[in-house]
Amino acid sequence: MSAPLLEAVGLSAGYGQSNVLRDIDLTVGAGEAVVVLGANGAGKTTLMRAISGLIPHTGEIRVDGKVVTKVRPDAMLRLGISQIPQGRGTLTDMTVRDNLRVGAVSRKPGPDVAEDIDQWCTVFPPLGKRRDQIAGTLSGGEQQMLAVARAMMSRPRLLLCDEVSLGLAPLIVQGLFEVLARVNAERGTAVLLVEQNAELALDIASRVYLLEVGSVASSGPTEEFRSNDAIRRAYLGY
Ligand SMILES: Nc1ncnc2c1ncn2[C@@H]1O[C@H](COP(=O)(O)OP(=O)(O)O)[C@@H](O)[C@H]1O
Ligand SMILES: [Mg+2]
Repeated sequence: MSAPLLEAVGLSAGYGQSNVLRDIDLTVGAGEAVVVLGANGAGKTTLMRAISGLIPHTGEIRVDGKVVTKVRPDAMLRLGISQIPQGRGTLTDMTVRDNLRVGAVSRKPGPDVAEDIDQWCTVFPPLGKRRDQIAGTLSGGEQQMLAVARAMMSRPRLLLCDEVSLGLAPLIVQGLFEVLARVNAERGTAVLLVEQNAELALDIASRVYLLEVGSVASSGPTEEFRSNDAIRRAYLGY
């Protein structure tokens, strides 16, 4: 059996002296959609930051079965792992088009970069209409579309999504999740979603991890989670 695309083994991370994540084991297979659920402050963003190399960690991060010794955002991007940070991370003083170009920095320049920009402007028509507009003038929903498109411009094998839904209107969120589901189903891009909004995330994920105060409280197939009354009440509210 081939190794999973991403593995975190005994992963711990935090800020200065305070350890937020403790001993996390997590895997994402090629083409898989996995969701990490957890309350505000559980450590979801910290987990994403540790995996993408924005903060240091102890334990191991493996890609394709090999330990990554220098976990840094540029190195992870070259390994095919692209992150949509919480709060979007779009370059607000650059145009939509230039944001998308920046998303392709890890690729060889060529006509296929412009073709991908066109493609994402079709997937998200509001971006198509505003290609030459400064990103900071877009609405919150449009900026999140741009963040998704920009992360996809590197043609990643794994997309890390940190609370894509945060602060957005339900219709916008639904549209974004539909695109993420299609990215996963049609392109075979693996996605690791971190969400407080469990309902939509569970629709596209086949596996779930529950994060409670920095540790994995449980994990398993999505269907098991939906049929577990206690978990459903705590995370889905019914
Ligand atoms: N930059 C930081 N410096 C110090 N502590 C932080 C920082 N960011 C987050 N924390 C703390 O780490 C814990 C987990 O935060 P976070 O990973 O953002 O949770 P989540 O994304 O699940 O809401 C919280 O207790 C939070 O206060
Ligand atoms: Mg967070």
